[in-house]
Formats: sequence, structure tokens, C-alpha cells
Amino acid sequence: MDYINILLGLLFVWILVRGVLISLRRTKRVAPGPFPLPIIGNLHLLGHKPHISLTQLAKKYGPIMNLKLGQINAVVISSSVLAKEVMQKQDLAFSNRFAIDAVHACNHNDFSVIWLPVNNSQWRTLRKIINSHIFSGNKLDANEHLRTKKIQELIDYCHKSSKVGEAVDIGRAAFTTSLNLLSNTIFSKDLTDPFSDSAKEFKELVWKIMVEAGKPNLVDYFPFLKKIDPQGIRRRSTDYFTKILHLMSDLIDERLKERELGNRENVDVLDALLDICPGEIDRNQIEQLCLDLFAAGTDTTSNTLEWAMAELLKNPHTLEKAQKELEQVIGRGKLIDEADVAKLPYLRCIAKETFRIHPQVPFLIPRKVEEDVELHGYTIPKDSQVLVNVWAMGRDSSLWKDPLEFKPERFWESDIDVRGRDFELIPFGAGRRICPGLPLAIRMIPVALGSLINTFNWKLYGGIAPKDLDMEEKFGITLAKAQPLLAIPIPL
Ligand code: HEM
Repeated sequence: MDYINILLGLLFVWILVRGVLISLRRTKRVAPGPFPLPIIGNLHLLGHKPHISLTQLAKKYGPIMNLKLGQINAVVISSSVLAKEVMQKQDLAFSNRFAIDAVHACNHNDFSVIWLPVNNSQWRTLRKIINSHIFSGNKLDANEHLRTKKIQELIDYCHKSSKVGEAVDIGRAAFTTSLNLLSNTIFSKDLTDPFSDSAKEFKELVWKIMVEAGKPNLVDYFPFLKKIDPQGIRRRSTDYFTKILHLMSDLIDERLKERELGNRENVDVLDALLDICPGEIDRNQIEQLCLDLFAAGTDTTSNTLEWAMAELLKNPHTLEKAQKELEQVIGRGKLIDEADVAKLPYLRCIAKETFRIHPQVPFLIPRKVEEDVELHGYTIPKDSQVLVNVWAMGRDSSLWKDPLEFKPERFWESDIDVRGRDFELIPFGAGRRICPGLPLAIRMIPVALGSLINTFNWKLYGGIAPKDLDMEEKFGITLAKAQPLLAIPIPL
């Protein structure tokens, strides 16, 4: 009888505990979102421009939205208030990356500062090295001269086109320039022939890596397909990563020989890294880090430059106003120095306005939660991908007056900055994962832009009127301009 009582008692406790657990699970509220279809979930809702589709959906479901993308749970954050919660108050919980399959090529994700988790000591060391040895103010000041020459070459190239009345493909010229600005900062040399198609292997490799990483990949939504790699994205990425890592390795060998001969001034990034190798960083990490810097820094910079030029050519009054400021502060026809940028407030407003309306990484680099996380009364389930829609925030009419208009003046009287403190404008992200290349980007972009408009007037190719300029975007890992910006330079 006693046994039966004990058994009944245990059964009762078990039912009670189970009931409590089930009701607890039921009280876990996931954020609202569209109803998922079998197998594909909400994938069909993304379309060709997911940043726009998700902005529309957020209007219906709210600033925190839960989606099912194939087998993956994804949460989209679309307001600056929640972005602050995610990247400031609960930054640690949201700081790991959702590493897309393409970057598993050559096990890059195991070494990459972009993809390593934040609790990994290698990530912390790499971030420290980047901040103190690569992008500190002193370091950037010391190697500014390596970049000045590249701006001069861009202007020389435009001069050549102007002489024959030929249009410049601004995006291509900006890509070559930002690649060479970076390669000179890192290696003190060009890795692609300025504006010639002969030595284009490196340029194409960087380009191809960005294209593969930007393609929607079934494996990222259906991880069981990983082994099959149905679109061949990892296979091709492996080929490109291998080639680029070889190239980096050759450059390091070359530099080590030069250093043995003792004829170096130790000014560029590679010198700084070799100075602390093998103590703080090893050779493989240097190769992978250089790859990261090119992948993260080239397209982002050149697309921003192309968009800024496109906005100026579409808005001739803004261009005139910027040219007037340059004429007064620098003098017409001259190139801009990095130090000049501090004296050019309107040029800086133009850069901010470009970052607002054309953020290059519209969802930031996807993040991931490792545990269930509570946010705004909802549970974000463990392993969810977290997308922060900065594109939507830049166009949020509750934050910005006339958000679709390009109006740099909005920043005249405003302290809002892009450095990750003002969550309505976070094109470089914020928190632990904020873009470490920000100090370099905010030097290169105004200098290149200011130099282009202080030496030339620009006429849109094909007699297109400024107001008719096509501003369509192309979604990828960065937000490119769909139609290349072609413009004829006319010396001022
Ligand atoms: C207009 C130029 C640029 C923009 C808009 C931009 C934007 C971003 C964004 C949004 C992130 C992710 C931040 C987050 O998750 O919160 C990021 C990360 C990163 N960026 Fe940039 N970036 C730019 C230029 C550069 C440059 C020039 C470099 C270096 C040469 C660079 C290197 C990196 C690296 C290494 C990371 C990964 C950091 C980490 O995950 O710990 N970026 N960038």
C-alpha cells in the first residue's frame, strides 16, 4: 500500500513539474512575424531586396520581428531604441556572429576577426592589435602619405578621361582607389595596377569573394545541405581564399627579406604586425587578418564613395555648396588632406547623410544568440540569427524629417555621429563588434570625395538630367548601386 502511495505521489509530482515546464514554455513569447510556410518558412518574403522587404514587414509586425528562414530562426530589429538595447545594454548576448557558409572556406571563420566569437581570446587579441597597431590616430597619421599618392592617381586618371571627354565609371574608379588606399596602408604598395586591366588578379579576387559572400546561399538556411554545397559557393570561395592567402604569404616573405636587409622605415600595417609576430600574432593570423581587412574595407568604402557622388550629381545645389566650402577653405583645384577634413563641416555632413541613406551593410554583419535572450518582452530563441536593419532606421520618419531626401544640412546643428553612440545612425554598427576600420573609413571617404569635387565639375553621361539619375540599389553583402554611375569630369 505504501509503495502504491509513493508511486502515486511521484507520478503526481512528475505531472506537476511537466505541467509547470510546459506552461513556462508556452509563456515564452517569440516576437510577432509572418506565418511560416512548410519547409521554406518565410524565405519567399525576402525577394531580391531583403532590406526593403523586411522594412515593409516591420511596419506590419513591429520593430522586433520573428521569421523562419528555411530551418533557421531569424529576428529582425528595426528601431533605434531596440538596436540600443541589443548593442549597448545586452551587447554581450548579441555579439557573436552567424557565420555564413562561404566563410567556412579554408576554415577562415576559425581565424577571422569578423567571424570569431567574442569570448574567443584570439578575437580579443586581434581587436586589440587592430585598435592599437593598425587604426590608432598615430598610426594612421604616420602612413597618411601612402594614401595621398593614391588620391593623386585617381585625380590624374580623371584628368585623362576629361581630356578625351570620356565618362568615368565612378564605382570602378572608387573600387580601385579604395583597394589601393588599403593596400598602401597595409603593404605600402599597389596590389592592382591603378586603372589598368593588366594586373587585375588581386582586384578580381577581392571582387569575387564579395560576390560569393553576398549570394543568397541555400546552405545558410538549410544547414543539412552543407556537405552538398548545391550552389558551389563554398567550393569557389575556397579557390579564391586559397589564392588570396598565397598572395598575402608571398608579400610577407618579400617583406621579411627586406627587413633582414634592414632597409625599412616600419610605417605600414604589415611592419606593425611583423613587429609583434610571433609573440602576439602568428603568421597564419596575419595572412587571415589582411584578407579580412581587404574584404571588409574595400567594397564598403568604394560603394559609399559612389553613392556620395551619385547624391551630389543628383542634387546640384548641394554639390555647389560643398564646392564653395572647399574653395574657401582649401582653394579651388587642390587635393584634400586628411587633416583638412576637420575644417570642412559641410563635407562631413555630406558623408554622414550618405551613411544615413546608403548604409553599406544594411543588416550589419549578422549576429547570433547562443542562449535564449529576453528582449522587449519577447524571447529570442537560442541560435537565432539577429539582423539589425540599419537601412530601415536611416529612413525612419519618426527619427528623420523627410527621410528620403538627401539633406546634409540636417546634420548642421546636430551632434549625431556615426561612431556607435547615436543609435539612429549606426552604419558601422556599435558595441563590441563595431567596425574597427571606422577611423580609416572616415578619413578616406571625405578625402577622396572632396578631392573629386574640388578638381572637377561633373556631367552625367548620356545627357541624363540630375533629377532622372537612377538610384536603384543592388542587394549583396554590401549595398551597391544597381546602375553604374558614369560621369564626365570637367576641370574646374
Ligand atoms: C564605409 C566604410 C565601412 C562601413 C560602412 C563598414 C561597416 C561595418 C559594419 C556595419 C560592421 C559590422 C558591425 C557590427 O556588427 O556591429 C563592420 C565590421 C568590420 N569592419 Fe567595417 N566598414 C567600413 C570600412 C571598413 C574598413 C576600411 C575596414 C578595414 C580596413 C573595416 C574592417 C572591418 C572589420 C575587420 C569588421 C569586423 C569586426 C568584428 O566583427 O569584430 N571596415 N564594418
